[in-house]
Amino acid sequence: MCGIVGYIGSKEAYPILISGLKRLEYRGYDSAGVALLDTTLNVYKKAGKVSDLENLVANKNVNGHVGIGHTRWATHGEPNDVNAHPHLSQGGDLAIIHNGIIENYSSIKETLLKKGHTFKSDTDTEVLIHFIEDIRDNANVDLEEAVRLALNEVVGAYAIAIISKNHPDLLIAARKGSPLVVGVGLGEYFIASDATPIIEYTRNVIYLEDKEIAIIRDNKLVIKTIGNKIIKNPYIEELNLSLESIEKGGYENFMLKEIYEQPRSILDSMRGRINAKTGTFHMSGLKEYEHKFINAKRIIIVACGTSWHAGLVAEYLFEDFARIPVEVEYASEFRYRNPVVNEDDIVLAISQSGETADTLAAIELAKSKGAMIFGICNVVGSSIPRMTHAGAYTHAGPEIGVASTKAFTAQVTVLTLMALHIAQLRGKIADKDLRRMFSELEAIPAKVEQALKSDDVIVKIAEKFKDAQNFLYLGRGYSFPVALEGALKLKEISYIHAEGYPAAEMKHGPIALIDANMPVVVIATEGANYEKVVSNIQEVKARKGRIIAIVSEGDEKIKSMAEYVIEIPKTEDCLIPLLATIPLQLLSYHIAILRGCNVDQPRNLAKSVTVE
Ligand code: G6P
Repeated sequence: MCGIVGYIGSKEAYPILISGLKRLEYRGYDSAGVALLDTTLNVYKKAGKVSDLENLVANKNVNGHVGIGHTRWATHGEPNDVNAHPHLSQGGDLAIIHNGIIENYSSIKETLLKKGHTFKSDTDTEVLIHFIEDIRDNANVDLEEAVRLALNEVVGAYAIAIISKNHPDLLIAARKGSPLVVGVGLGEYFIASDATPIIEYTRNVIYLEDKEIAIIRDNKLVIKTIGNKIIKNPYIEELNLSLESIEKGGYENFMLKEIYEQPRSILDSMRGRINAKTGTFHMSGLKEYEHKFINAKRIIIVACGTSWHAGLVAEYLFEDFARIPVEVEYASEFRYRNPVVNEDDIVLAISQSGETADTLAAIELAKSKGAMIFGICNVVGSSIPRMTHAGAYTHAGPEIGVASTKAFTAQVTVLTLMALHIAQLRGKIADKDLRRMFSELEAIPAKVEQALKSDDVIVKIAEKFKDAQNFLYLGRGYSFPVALEGALKLKEISYIHAEGYPAAEMKHGPIALIDANMPVVVIATEGANYEKVVSNIQEVKARKGRIIAIVSEGDEKIKSMAEYVIEIPKTEDCLIPLLATIPLQLLSYHIAILRGCNVDQPRNLAKSVTVE
């Protein structure tokens, strides 16, 4: 959470920082600010969105070839103007931006208070820059060394950037636990939380590793560790990201664009990996570790949020096809509950961003216990792919809307491919069944396209239920995780309370909530549990609940019971999550829009949760 961006070079920094902040706004939007170095060090910051910051600086001096910018997701201190970044040192000559949490800030603050420091904000970040300043002034070292010494004392996570009024040719950045990319241009450098603010200027980037400091001085970059070891010839990667993929492309917002991109993103997540005709499978990350999967006693899945729901689908898939026992864990629980992890366990870490702090910590814990870690991530070059033994990218392309949509279906696609392939390796699936599954998978993008055509009926349903206080989502088998995901989507972007439940479990509690005002979304497609779900629908109906059913095309039976039906194409049971999710995304989208909510930037949320 929090997005940071910085520039040093011959261009004007402000336009680069502002457009960069807009791209990073998915990471947090409680406040925004910039510091620019002209003849003076000018700081402008404001609670609210980047657009509020733009209004603030209209007619102000925004000149300067060096600058840093920040968009905040509040951790320490409420989201107001004062707590917005950048923060200044006591003497006002240093400015800092920070993404992360300094856990031992209060003890550092106490020491500094005793030395006469005064603080304007409640943030841990302001303490850090005062601390750096204090070391510089009292240990009589230069700024670069003061940063290094300070970071050695800091407990917690950070991606920081610092500029100094007295050194217009200097920008210092460092990371531990929060992402940081350095863009290497011609006579100019960029730093940012991800590569999106950089791509129109340079494709050459260096992903800083934990505990590394980048010092850009006099147009030269030096990278060293906080232990003072110089990194010789840091690896410069070439970015493979198009500008088009991070723009709205004619859609009103990113969420709608990303929902509609799914036929393509699902295809991209399968591209080159399966061939239904030959029944072959290829996933380079898996190859080397196939024997591990063949012999695995157990798979443990760690993830958060929507990725956790994809993990739940994977549990059904891996147990159903590959016959390997699976446990799905919230990374935040797993990391603190002293779990049993054995060397013959495989840990699958699922994350869109590849930066979620709890998932990273869960991986570290599992690694320390000797398990093999396989990552399934969307953001190329992010932290999780770099700390796992192996992995597969989902190739969904940049997902910018805070509520995850196309990343989820891409994760489920990749997990489905893996489960089927491992089932084959373990001799648990017949060749003809595997080919049938592969060929059905190949048909999924077109079926998603068809599912998207239900938009008109979904708008009508949204109009009818937009003022509901609660929603219940029910599903069984493969549709249970879909029910959870549908409920999460609605909560996230429309702020309506919603619960996902296994349809039969409804009898053990939620049924008490059902009355004539309760919309109940039931995933009731044809397949193994169909008749059972029909019975569950009857139970809801008997209590006057308002049924919105997701059904297989041509279903007549449920039409006569439900207030609304949304048809999706028929498919294999195990592929239902890829189709049934689509109308649920659209339903929450339209409800949120009708309620006037900002779907791309829902309140209090952030896309990349880099704090625990
Ligand atoms: C945040 C996002 C969710 C996401 C979750 C896990 O809560 O708002 O959309 O599912 O983090 O993120 P990850 O990047 O690890 O998938």
